[in-house]
Amino acid sequence: MDDWANKIKNDFPIFDSSDLIYLDNAATTQKPESVINAINAFYKETNANVHRAIYSIGNEATKRFEDAREKVSSFINAPSSKEVIFTSGATESLNLLASSLVSNLKPGDEILLSEMEHHSNIVPWQIVAKKFNLIIRYLPIDQIGELDLNNSEDFFTKKTKIVSIAHVSNVLGTINPIKKLAGMAHSIGAIFIADGAQGAPHTKVDVKEFDCDFYVFSGHKMLGPTGVGILWGKTKLLEEMDPFMGGGEMIEDVSFEESTWNNIPYKFEAGTPNIAQAIGLGAAIDYLNTIGIENIQSHEKKLTRYALEQVSQIKNIMIHGTSNNKSGVISFNIKDIHPQDLTQFLDQDNIAIRVGQHCAQPLLSVLKETSTARISFYIYNTHEDIDKFCHSINKTLSYF
Ligand SMILES: Cc1ncc(COP(=O)(O)O)c(C=O)c1O
Repeated sequence: MDDWANKIKNDFPIFDSSDLIYLDNAATTQKPESVINAINAFYKETNANVHRAIYSIGNEATKRFEDAREKVSSFINAPSSKEVIFTSGATESLNLLASSLVSNLKPGDEILLSEMEHHSNIVPWQIVAKKFNLIIRYLPIDQIGELDLNNSEDFFTKKTKIVSIAHVSNVLGTINPIKKLAGMAHSIGAIFIADGAQGAPHTKVDVKEFDCDFYVFSGHKMLGPTGVGILWGKTKLLEEMDPFMGGGEMIEDVSFEESTWNNIPYKFEAGTPNIAQAIGLGAAIDYLNTIGIENIQSHEKKLTRYALEQVSQIKNIMIHGTSNNKSGVISFNIKDIHPQDLTQFLDQDNIAIRVGQHCAQPLLSVLKETSTARISFYIYNTHEDIDKFCHSINKTLSYF
């Protein structure tokens, strides 16, 4: 199995010249040569603005940009590529939704989130809730880090208008039952948003099958460049929504008095888009498709099982999130050792892991921690990486 991942590792230039063990994939992933080449090729061969220029390189730039949209659309099984909007990342997608959906709400309406959300699926809602007197409620989590749906009727009520939940938790690794949650939201007439920042890179996403209303994710967590993300939404809802930003491209007609809006997806893509980044994301999707999302899922499952077995043997370790339905994210604390110290020791062995609140401070307060250490896997990680990580931790523990 390590042969499979080691072969993949060869496609990533960052691993060429060092023995880096990169275990911070929930923060961002490394980039294969093909993604770097696609971005370079755009700037070297066909750099021009899109949807405007009617000369050859302009047409070619538009083609590559729109091809990337088609690739994203097929990757998530969207009914139409018009429903795929390029943003700068999951954070912008969620801000767009909070800002645009709120116009249909009235004071006292409720937005339902969960205790395991990333700040980017909390703070945008807090901003609009404060402005428009809306109420935010949080679905609790249970002991193993799954959503506790035992008293769901207390949370999914007539007042609930929007439900926005992570597909996969970036701290606990829990994979949430998106289809079921979408059904629960729809049964009370609420809109359902899935934050797929940790879902799309690691699990099969089928927005038709999930029947969610919106699905958002970031390119850089799935081998693509930074600065590009996706908002997918159902046509009818996108058409009804107000634009988020105003400027060039998103308009149909502009006078000194007023403006009318372009069709979707352009209504939500004001100004010059992130052309090179979108093309890079298209190349990342090509790469992921060559490997196969099912193979990625199965590799990560085996790796996670092995890592949990090994890591749980470390003395005085506490693992946060032990659901059976867990992706390749393991957060932990070791008694009497600050995660920051641990990370610094591991860095001396060229092992990169994450420490801190993981942009999920409210969740950490539920876990009664101020900081945790986190390892997270992707396609190029191996059993050997995990062995070296455990060895380095045990070496560190011997100093304390
Ligand atoms: C679950 C989740 N949602 C949203 C985000 C925000 O993604 P970005 O910073 O790429 O916008 C992250 C990033 O870590 C995340 O893990």
